[in-house]
Amino acid sequence: MANVKVIFGSTTGATESAAAEIAAAFGVTAVNIANASAEDFKADLLILGSSTWGLGELQDDWAAKIGLLEQADLKGKLVAVFGLGDQNGFADTYCDAMGILAQKSKARGALLIGQTSAEGYGHSSSVAEENKLFCGLALDDNNESEKTSSRIGAWVETLKHHLG
Ligand SMILES: Cc1cc2nc3c(=O)[nH]c(=O)nc-3n(C[C@H](O)[C@H](O)[C@H](O)COP(=O)(O)O)c2cc1C
Repeated sequence: MANVKVIFGSTTGATESAAAEIAAAFGVTAVNIANASAEDFKADLLILGSSTWGLGELQDDWAAKIGLLEQADLKGKLVAVFGLGDQNGFADTYCDAMGILAQKSKARGALLIGQTSAEGYGHSSSVAEENKLFCGLALDDNNESEKTSSRIGAWVETLKHHLG
């Protein structure tokens, strides 16, 4: 069995709910970054999730513990990221925190998987987007909560393919 870890940061619970759903699909329990240690960053597939706060910033607990990611040895490891944001209220910084997690993971040598199409979203700019692709799964419980479960379900299936 592949070792899958889901680590999330969440202020009002939206990312926590998504993380719980993703973790359940892999038969594991999600870890709150506020309680995480370096050991939690050792996995065959590491799934990292953050909501975006301020203007394009990491969620607070992630910001406080970002050293764990910046020091993790992710060389050749599979990493997937997801984010919660508000594409209407924060159209210029939609899910930026997910992009920050992706950049930091790649800087540690990770193989990033789980990119998704950015078509159909209403944002105007995001550091999590390049060439009409999000670096991970972009969720929006402020405006499109009805799409969250199906988006998670489809994404999890693609991640499972990578695990073989
Ligand atoms: C003060 C404030 C700032 C926010 N800034 C952003 C932002 O820059 N980009 C974005 O996509 N969403 C932003 N959001 C929306 C949150 O990311 C969104 O509500 C998310 O679902 C919260 O998830 P959480 O409860 O897991 O923390 C902001 C929300 C608030 C209240």
